[in-house]
Amino acid sequence: MDLLTTAIAVREKAYAPYSKFHVGAAIRSASGKIYAGCNVENVAYPEGTCAEAGAIAAMIADGETEISEILVVARGPVKVSPCGGCRQKISEFAQASTIVFMADMSGDIEETTIADLLPAGFDKDHLDVG
Ligand code: THU
Repeated sequence: MDLLTTAIAVREKAYAPYSKFHVGAAIRSASGKIYAGCNVENVAYPEGTCAEAGAIAAMIADGETEISEILVVARGPVKVSPCGGCRQKISEFAQASTIVFMADMSGDIEETTIADLLPAGFDKDHLDVG
């Protein structure tokens, strides 16, 4: 799977000296192009950014705004799952049915949707205050 290969490769570039938890993410956009991102930590811990945020930024910088599917990979006892903030970030550029793949380093992949990961999320309708 292209997304897995891309995410595993970009994970090698992760800057995670504090958590030592290296994460890679890959997005396939509506056009079929693939965008990669890794986590980038900071000595001021809350300033770090997640792998998903990096991949989304790369997609937006390239002029695309629709995530068809996204894969996240890390090493760990259970498959990495996008954090709450990343679920909201993915949701901004996804449909309810957009697939989220969660992978481990052996290439084992679990599949879900952004709607399942972020039920009752805050969305554009909530801003419509008239
Ligand atoms: N992290 C991600 O990059 N994506 C996730 O979905 C979960 C967490 C990063 C943030 C931090 O650099 C490290 O993993 C440990 O939380």
